[in-house]
Amino acid sequence: MTELDRNNIPQHVAIIMDGNGRWAKQQGKMRVFGHKNGVAAVREAVSYARKIGVKYLTLYAFSSENWNRPEQEVSALMNLFMQALDFEVKKLHKNDIRLKILGDISRFSAGLQEKIKKAEKLTENNTALTLNIAANYGGRWDIVQAAQQLAEQVLAQQLNVADINEALFQQHLVTKDEPEVDLLIRTSGEQRISNFLLWQTAYAELYFSDVLWPDFNEAEFHQAILSYQQRHRRFGGTE
Ligand code: IPE
Ligand code: IPE
Ligand code: MG
Repeated sequence: MTELDRNNIPQHVAIIMDGNGRWAKQQGKMRVFGHKNGVAAVREAVSYARKIGVKYLTLYAFSSENWNRPEQEVSALMNLFMQALDFEVKKLHKNDIRLKILGDISRFSAGLQEKIKKAEKLTENNTALTLNIAANYGGRWDIVQAAQQLAEQVLAQQLNVADINEALFQQHLVTKDEPEVDLLIRTSGEQRISNFLLWQTAYAELYFSDVLWPDFNEAEFHQAILSYQQRHRRFGGTE
């Protein structure tokens, strides 16, 4: 494997973990089987990100549009999410990883919301890596909820409309205090954003892998970082 340039590790990597259903279908199994097998790939991605020094890893676990799936699949995903919170949080904490859930959690069961809050509280002072799990997340929702917060401040006469700028706006997104996404990876060959981090990926480098999520491993992640390290980011300027 080609060595990574340790001085050019993306600070914030976001991943659209796609292809669980197709992976299961290839094995002649139910879609849920794919989701279950995706959990190991999540573990591997988290540990690799921490190992190479990525500071923020944002994983798209459930979009605001995924409620459109059959009820049985949605509830299986919720159960997996609950289990992961039960089994993985201690390990995350031991590894100095901060866990944050990004999204509208009010639609989740009371039990799940409780687990989320406990896990976030337990890990809030950890600094090796921040792991954001986007759950019931939509990029448009994120922008709208930020606009609502600002509108309320204007109504309460705590803020002037003229003082709303990009820096202030971004402080009301769910990723406040985090750097923008440097590298966005999507697995399974699909090349679209699917309402993920719309604002935060404005200048992200995009990397599409044909691998289905349960097969995504360290070697694949390494390839994505290598590709990132070969890009010339210009941010609208010149070389
Ligand atoms: C991604 O895999 C996981 C979630 C959206 C929760 P999919 O379930 O979308 O798998 P495909 O795209 O149908 O293969
Ligand atoms: C995006 O994948 C959402 C997650 C990975 C959680 P989808 O499989 O839901 O996206 P579309 O429907 O193919 O755009
Ligand atoms: Mg999909």
